[in-house]
Amino acid sequence: MAKKRLYIKTYGCQMNVYDSARMADVLAPMGYESAAGPEDADLVILNTCHIREKAAEKVYSEVGRLRHLKDEKARQGGRMLLAVGGCVAQAQGEEMMRRAPAIDLVFGPQTYHELPDLLGRATRDLMATGRSRVVAIDLATDEKFDRLPEEAAPQGASAFLTIQEGCDKFCSFCVVPYTRGAEFSRPVAAVLAEARRMVAAGAAEITLLGQNVNAYHGADGDGGTLGLGGLMRRLAGIGGLERIRYTTSHPRDVDDDLIDAHRDVPQIMPFLHLPVQSGSDRILKAMNRRHTADRYREIVASLRTARPDLALSSDFIVGYPGETDADFEATMALVREVRFAMAYSFKYSPRPGTPAADLEDQVPEAVKSARLAALQDELNRQQEEFNRSCVGRTLPVLLERGGRHARQLVGRSPYMQAVSVDMGSNEADLRGSICDVEIEAVLSNSLRGRLIGRETMVAAQ
Ligand code: SAH
Ligand code: SF4
Ligand code: F3S
Repeated sequence: MAKKRLYIKTYGCQMNVYDSARMADVLAPMGYESAAGPEDADLVILNTCHIREKAAEKVYSEVGRLRHLKDEKARQGGRMLLAVGGCVAQAQGEEMMRRAPAIDLVFGPQTYHELPDLLGRATRDLMATGRSRVVAIDLATDEKFDRLPEEAAPQGASAFLTIQEGCDKFCSFCVVPYTRGAEFSRPVAAVLAEARRMVAAGAAEITLLGQNVNAYHGADGDGGTLGLGGLMRRLAGIGGLERIRYTTSHPRDVDDDLIDAHRDVPQIMPFLHLPVQSGSDRILKAMNRRHTADRYREIVASLRTARPDLALSSDFIVGYPGETDADFEATMALVREVRFAMAYSFKYSPRPGTPAADLEDQVPEAVKSARLAALQDELNRQQEEFNRSCVGRTLPVLLERGGRHARQLVGRSPYMQAVSVDMGSNEADLRGSICDVEIEAVLSNSLRGRLIGRETMVAAQ
């Protein structure tokens, strides 16, 4: 089989990262190997994100750049196919081709298992007419996973595993229910089998993914379903799987069993990304989040009782339509009270087709900017304080890759902090193992530490 080169550029969330890896797996039997950059590629895939306007617009500037590359290749008698997948593709479909005719194929997050067939059609059209306009944006989620190959390229010491797709929550600001479709959970056996393959390929840590990962309710094979807590108890039995994480969870779907799992299962890392969006009940209601600020406080308190060293992260939106100074102050009050180890915060971005985009009382840009700056100031302070509280402690770090300097490895602490570790005179290649590291300093985006020794692994029973 002739070798071909594939370059995938990924935007957006971890689910897109997982999807991109699976696209490469789907294309490997066709002879596609990964290219270092688009210049070397026969096929370029942009795996896109629609969540905010800025993210979506980035795609068109990238297509503009790639068009020149494509023209250049054609002049030299070669060919480069340009495919756009992911959430912008799902949302805009054919419109993308009208706006950017250089695109040969548009496919959605639920159709990428069909890539070999879609590419075949695109190539035939190109040869016959000099133009390809293949669009595949069917949203039926439940077929894809059954048709993806078992064979997967290893993801390294830390791997992503999608267990749940789609969202039925319809928060009024959010495009995800429209781009990913309805909620769907993969069966327990399929998740366990994929996790075992990942561990056999070298993963010590697995992050379970879903747009609403804790809404997971996978078929257990006995006519019932298993929630996320139960699933993680089962995963914890896989020997060699040292760490389990999950993201993104919704406060509405945190149940007692999930909280208990944080207490009972040592492999579940003491770090949780639990988006709250706002601290104002009025705004939470308008957002259709279906929980109050106090409910969020209660959930956090229960989680911290179950796992006292739990560090929290969150997402915030400022400037949702109608947000007043008092609403914003309620968000600041919640932040000051809960205390986050890190967090993401965004200015509200109106998205086509979502209910909030049509509301009249949009918040002026300058007000959004000022609120975002104030919030980020506080969140940055909290992150720094959390990081500083780790100095002098010895933390288990999963070493993943080489650092910027010679004899340095970089990995993650249980709390998701990046830690760079000086290996000193230690000759062993400790990549992929969990080591005890004494944290010495806080750098701008990471921690620096000193190798104490190899950790005694959490034995999987
Ligand atoms: N399923 C997750 C969020 C997925 S989207 C949840 O329910 O929390 C990731 C984050 O992007 C959201 O948490 C939200 O903070 C942000 N976001 C989503 N839509 C947005 C919009 N229209 N404008 C600004 N931020 C948005
Ligand atoms: Fe979007 Fe809300 Fe669904 Fe999260 S829960 S993906 S914010 S609609
Ligand atoms: Fe973006 Fe789609 Fe993920 S819109 S955040 S890539 S689910």
